[in-house]
Amino acid sequence: MVDKSDISRREFLASTGNFIKSTAALQAISAVAMSVAASGCGSSSAASQSQNPSTNPPPPNNSPRPIDWPGNIGNGKSVVILGAGIAGLVSAFEMSKLGYQCTILEATDRVGGRVRTIRNGDVVDEVDSSQACLFESQEQLYFNAGAARIPHHHELILGYCREFGISLETFVNENTAARLQSESAFQGQPLLARQLKSDTHGFIGELLATSVNQGDLDNSLSAAEKSNLLGLLQQFAGLDANYNYQGSSRAGFPQQESIGSRARSVSTLEPLARESILSSEFWQFKLDFFRQINQQATMLQPVGGMDKIPQAFELQVGELITYNAEVQAIRKTNTGVQIIYRDSQDNQNEQLADFCICTIPAPVLATIDNDFSDAHQNEIQNFSYSQSGKIAFQSSRFWESRHNIYGGISWTDQNITQLWYPSNQLGAEQGIIVGGYTFGQNQGSWLANLSPSARITESIQQASRIHVDYADFVSQGVSISWPKVPYQLGAWGTSQPLHLLVGDDNVFFAGEHLSILQGWQEGAVLSAYSAIDQIVNLS
Ligand code: FAD
Ligand code: ALA
Repeated sequence: MVDKSDISRREFLASTGNFIKSTAALQAISAVAMSVAASGCGSSSAASQSQNPSTNPPPPNNSPRPIDWPGNIGNGKSVVILGAGIAGLVSAFEMSKLGYQCTILEATDRVGGRVRTIRNGDVVDEVDSSQACLFESQEQLYFNAGAARIPHHHELILGYCREFGISLETFVNENTAARLQSESAFQGQPLLARQLKSDTHGFIGELLATSVNQGDLDNSLSAAEKSNLLGLLQQFAGLDANYNYQGSSRAGFPQQESIGSRARSVSTLEPLARESILSSEFWQFKLDFFRQINQQATMLQPVGGMDKIPQAFELQVGELITYNAEVQAIRKTNTGVQIIYRDSQDNQNEQLADFCICTIPAPVLATIDNDFSDAHQNEIQNFSYSQSGKIAFQSSRFWESRHNIYGGISWTDQNITQLWYPSNQLGAEQGIIVGGYTFGQNQGSWLANLSPSARITESIQQASRIHVDYADFVSQGVSISWPKVPYQLGAWGTSQPLHLLVGDDNVFFAGEHLSILQGWQEGAVLSAYSAIDQIVNLS
């Protein structure tokens, strides 16, 4: 049984909460830096700057945009960018436009980092295993193993999609035909989301209406407000004329899932017992998950796979990338930076530049020799990451043909946590179902500690509690545990950044973990803008 409190409610909510805290942190850093600058210690030359992180000018504003930067400001200056994920690609793309001479060093043979789409023939390497993806070779059979959905208000990453002509389609996040299954409630039987939502609203509304009608809230509400509140509750909860909840068509109809709408009976489903709903905490986070600002409709995905985004950047800046270049040391010099890297021939090379933008994830950076200040080093060493991973299978689309589920997510309190039904090519015969997305700490460790074949066996067992005949359909399982992926060693940052928000002499840091949107591509873009802005201000 999974400890619900460990499921990533914190991880998801932290992302939104970070804004306030990070802003405060930045302001604090800014205040220190301003006072240092005012006392005459600040300088734009690397040679004259001390190791104290606060001697670099802080980001001048919390949300810089390319339009803020003067054209040609980078002429005659060089930047080495470490990592060709979204943060590195955006840095190279934008800085090249400003005239900087950019070089990207990327440890792997591909762009995208955690934007990774797995298809037939791809190999998933982890530190102690290797899996070949055996999906059939069909256009719709892909698995977004990292980033998979884009909120409609992530306008920077969506802006690049527009600029590069990347086709988008709807990603179905919430689906009331999907299921919620708890081992500790309703005898472990899966419930339809529409029934649980409707009946939960129903009993909450009924209780509140009773309270209003009994006069319990007379000290708080005027007569007119009481009347309007009762009207709202009737709609909110589907109450009858007497403000009772007797079930609602919103919850669906008996046997609707097996015999379809033609067999609708006049009566609605018997409401779920309030005591049964309240006997478990399981529903609390899940029922309202899709109301979080970053999970609300409309969600989007690139047609054909999320890797269309890094691939589009690659068309722009590919010639600047050295692939299979594993950074091994980051040194400060009198004039800038020296990067030592191992190339594909296993030779050591150096790359000199005036500035460096380091987008290497903190768990990897923690293993790389460097000259960083103690404050930067400490933060890198102690930066926490989610241990998330995913499992996917090819399958005929039984969820569509048998259960009327078109996209969306089912939840369980077993370790697999979620099933994701594909939003692409609805109605095709075959599809890729995400058979587990473990974004809590315990669940992530569960996945990480299993061999790839055990992940498949155990995840099928667990998913069969949601769809009893699941094992009859799914095949060609493939999984990824991000903490075990070389050059990643984690899924997304969960610590509160502070010192890394400001450069260390001429080394500047970027990556989703340093943004107000940890775990999102948009965060990676924002972090790149912040690093660029700091360099522009020194140039
Ligand atoms: P990365 O993509 O990690 O790029 C860092 C690069 O550095 C990599 O290419 C790596 O190979 C390279 N590197 C590492 N070490 C070295 C070295 N020594 N030398 C040279 N190069 C090195 N985002 C969304 O927008 N929507 C989602 O639905 C979503 N879901 C996610 C689900 C999961 C499971 C995960 C893991 C992530 C998800 N994200 C999502 C987050 C998104 O993928 C990341 O925020 C974003 O891709 C991070 O970009 P980055 O450039 O900061 O880092
Ligand atoms: N932002 C990532 C998601 O929505 C973690 O799954």
